[in-house]
Amino acid sequence: MPSPRIDVLDDYDVLSRAGADMVSVFLRSTPAARIVVATGATPMGLYRELAHRRGRGELEAAEVTVFQLDEYAGIAPDDRRSLLGWARRSFVEPLGIPPDRVVPVPTDGDPETCAEYDREVERAGGYDLAILGIGRNGHVGFNEPPSDPSAPTRLVELTPESIDSNAAYWGDVEHVPRRAVTIGLAGLLRSRTILLVASGGSKREIVQRAVLGPMTDEVPASHLRASADLRVLVDRAAWDGPEPA
Ligand code: F6R
Repeated sequence: MPSPRIDVLDDYDVLSRAGADMVSVFLRSTPAARIVVATGATPMGLYRELAHRRGRGELEAAEVTVFQLDEYAGIAPDDRRSLLGWARRSFVEPLGIPPDRVVPVPTDGDPETCAEYDREVERAGGYDLAILGIGRNGHVGFNEPPSDPSAPTRLVELTPESIDSNAAYWGDVEHVPRRAVTIGLAGLLRSRTILLVASGGSKREIVQRAVLGPMTDEVPASHLRASADLRVLVDRAAWDGPEPA
């Protein structure tokens, strides 16, 4: 099993710049990269840093294809709370990626549509890079615990932890959709490179379990260690393990 490369950065800003460094280098070698883009709070600093670099003429991303990682089931794409809208506002538009280079997840969650989506990605050669965050319950995308490494793209029921942690975006916990569609762990694991970012004390315990604990369906992010090229960027607040070599 390959070991993940773990970098512990001083704080969130340093982490965001380190993430942007990694993505910039990746884009120089693979300008037409197929990139899975997480939303959530953690990668926003990284995305802002990429946008600044593009503004300074240091980064070119017009050939990138963006794959949406996950979405609330049945939500309209123009709903301001949709994760697709969030990915567009934070990544696609600031990086000058043409709108027709964005591939949404099949939000109706129909099993055959999801299976066809996975087959199409596979035929196109899979993802090159997946930029992922981690939920406090160990989820990646909405691969909620338990999720096994062969999990396909599919409709899922959100766990109470995920419903709670998204309540702020919906005004009240009662309004958070109960179901979502997510790219499965199987597709993510076939990504050439995975970049996992985590920040802050609320992620400390789950990061240790995902990175240093047993690989288990109960911590879906732990399965990312089966990836041939997993890079983990954490800030000091989120790290409780030994100083990585
Ligand atoms: C968002 C997503 C989620 C988040 C995770 C961490 O598209 O897939 O898995 O990455 O919930 O969210 P934050 O970064 O807000 O702590």
